[in-house]
Amino acid sequence: MKNVQIFSTKSEFDNQTAAAIIAIILATLETRPECHLVLTGGNTPRGVYSQLAGFSRNLIEWQRVHLYWGDERMVPPEHVDSNYRMAKETLLEHIDIPRENIHRIRGEINPAAAAVEYAALLKEKFHHEPRFDLMLLGVGKDGHTASLFPGTKAVVEKKKLVAEVFVRKLDSWRVTLTLPVINNARQIMFLVAGKSKAEILKKIIRAEPPTTDLPASLVRPTGGELYWMLDADAAAKLGK
Ligand code: 6PG
Repeated sequence: MKNVQIFSTKSEFDNQTAAAIIAIILATLETRPECHLVLTGGNTPRGVYSQLAGFSRNLIEWQRVHLYWGDERMVPPEHVDSNYRMAKETLLEHIDIPRENIHRIRGEINPAAAAVEYAALLKEKFHHEPRFDLMLLGVGKDGHTASLFPGTKAVVEKKKLVAEVFVRKLDSWRVTLTLPVINNARQIMFLVAGKSKAEILKKIIRAEPPTTDLPASLVRPTGGELYWMLDADAAAKLGK
């Protein structure tokens, strides 16, 4: 398995992952007018985004970076569960990025409408198949990534760019990018930390062939690079 980095502590994970993201943004802006970056939700990225905000202050021309979300919980943007709110608190409020470069999924409207609206935004931004420069992803303990949860139709969606999904065990709606969009990214970076992810990460890495039971195992960039940024706790069972 290539492109795997394992960091001994969570703070090293946060620092080094933020540095890796900055390096990819800078490299992209060397050759392209803009960088299109997809943020992941959940808790793991909080420290990474805070470091990203701090390190990038005089390094990144944020006016040339467009931010998107890989998924969103269907709640208002100020709701404690909102992935947009998490990114706003840890990153957006601390960098000089134009509001028009921030493309959140509207969690406050009807899920199906939000999915259609976001797909239209992607078509407007990319004019063709959306090809993000960097796609950040997390992994859930059940093997989900973004909001592609095991057993949901969204996992096997091949046509839509964005799908609404009712997650029974959470009794809640989500909106998520689909695998064709995720796998079309130039670079995909999984951020996985904590003991609770060690078992599922071992299963995902070993899943051959990939399986819809472990949606994260289906993330295989069609023409890009895949990076795994792990802390030692999450990587503890990889060699076993
Ligand atoms: C979300 C994320 C989801 C997340 C995993 C891991 O909306 O929750 O997009 O895919 O990355 O559930 O979450 P933690 O980082 O909180 O463990």
